[in-house]
Amino acid sequence: TTIPQFQQAMPVPPTLKPTSVSGKAAYYEMTMKEADAEILPGMLTRVRTFNGSFPSPVIKAASGQRVVIKQTNQLTVPTSIHLHGAHVPQSSDGSPMDLIAAGGGSKTYTYPNNQPHANMWFHDHAHHEEAETVYRGLYGLYLLTDEKEQSLNLPSGAYDVPIALRDGRFDDAGQLAYTMNDPNRTVLMANGKAWPYFKVAARKYRFRLFNTSNMRFFALKLSDNSPFQLIGSDGGLLEKPLEVTSVALSPGERADVVVDFSRYDAGTTLVLENTRPLRPGEPVEQLSKVLQFRVTGPARDTSVVPATLRTLPPMGTATVNRSFELYVDETGATNNAYINGQAYDMSRIDTEIEYGATEIWTIHNANTRLPHNFHVHLVQFRVLERGGQPVTSGPEVALKDTVAVQPGETVKIQATFTGYEGTYVYHCHMIDHAAMGMMGNFRVSATRS
Ligand code: C2O
Ligand code: CU
Repeated sequence: TTIPQFQQAMPVPPTLKPTSVSGKAAYYEMTMKEADAEILPGMLTRVRTFNGSFPSPVIKAASGQRVVIKQTNQLTVPTSIHLHGAHVPQSSDGSPMDLIAAGGGSKTYTYPNNQPHANMWFHDHAHHEEAETVYRGLYGLYLLTDEKEQSLNLPSGAYDVPIALRDGRFDDAGQLAYTMNDPNRTVLMANGKAWPYFKVAARKYRFRLFNTSNMRFFALKLSDNSPFQLIGSDGGLLEKPLEVTSVALSPGERADVVVDFSRYDAGTTLVLENTRPLRPGEPVEQLSKVLQFRVTGPARDTSVVPATLRTLPPMGTATVNRSFELYVDETGATNNAYINGQAYDMSRIDTEIEYGATEIWTIHNANTRLPHNFHVHLVQFRVLERGGQPVTSGPEVALKDTVAVQPGETVKIQATFTGYEGTYVYHCHMIDHAAMGMMGNFRVSATRS
């Protein structure tokens, strides 16, 4: 069966309403449960959802205002909900072992939002279950804003559109197949629809792009190769907009872009294309196209992309160096994945960090064919070097929480571990690799002398 492209409209996920607001806190309730969603035109797919809605409702929050979410798990598997990109106490981090029992268990997560604006997302993190559960739909977007971002007059309202991108494989009955390997069954989705279209007015739009795939990397461009502005990364806006013709996103990463459609006539169609080289056997025609834009007509536009967007926080001086070697058995003989030769063990602390320390981490991908990436909880980091070259310009001069590491490549990052003591994880965000063990625990603790 061939799934037709550009037949369904891409929805914009609804914003979740708090159950109550008091002082500087907003309270939400979410129920994880199965539901049917029309991902492929005319077919229903069973998915794991928040509140029965796929894509999940979006949470909108502001710096300095607490968000409290009671999560109830009506699924048949345990879950743990991690807010990716957030600076939170360990008790609300959704660690791999901090499970919400299946069949009605619940847990309340508190997000202090004591950090600048960022495009974050929440997803399952229950160890060994997370890869399949995220694949089956259990993720949602969390947009944190602040006064700085609000002061800029970027495209807003209907012209500020979050887009969760991913792939998935479907069987003949239209069901998501987690273990199936048939490349011809692979579908690309935007906001939960297979190859949708999206109508745009001839003006500027802000698109907040999230790669919510388990394993797929994207390199995204417009079909006419025209430039657009990259304005933000994982941890919020860049210092200055960057004119680009393509953006790369590994699983978990975000790119905030502004596309100006005012140069197009009404009736123009454009495709958001994926140019990341595909795996052998993957159908280029399907997997090189993601989403179609249909330009309607002119619209008033008073938004601007200012030449200066923000100032990044100072980096501090690093006093500790560490290295991490990522390796997955690519022979397929075992299902094992390692960091520094060890698979994840919940009871082992792999890295002890002194509270307040600034550290440089050297991440090496020891595989020769497979990419990885590296995600660290609790912090936003900076990318210092890639392949031995200093990173002083381009899209990675930003606050990052996830960084791609290509086969054989070495990337250096720097972070400051402050705000909370506790145990957190770092891992490959090719989430099947994390489930296979490419994850470690770090513990931040104050020195007691
Ligand atoms: Cu997005 Cu530890 O995860
Ligand atoms: Cu990996």
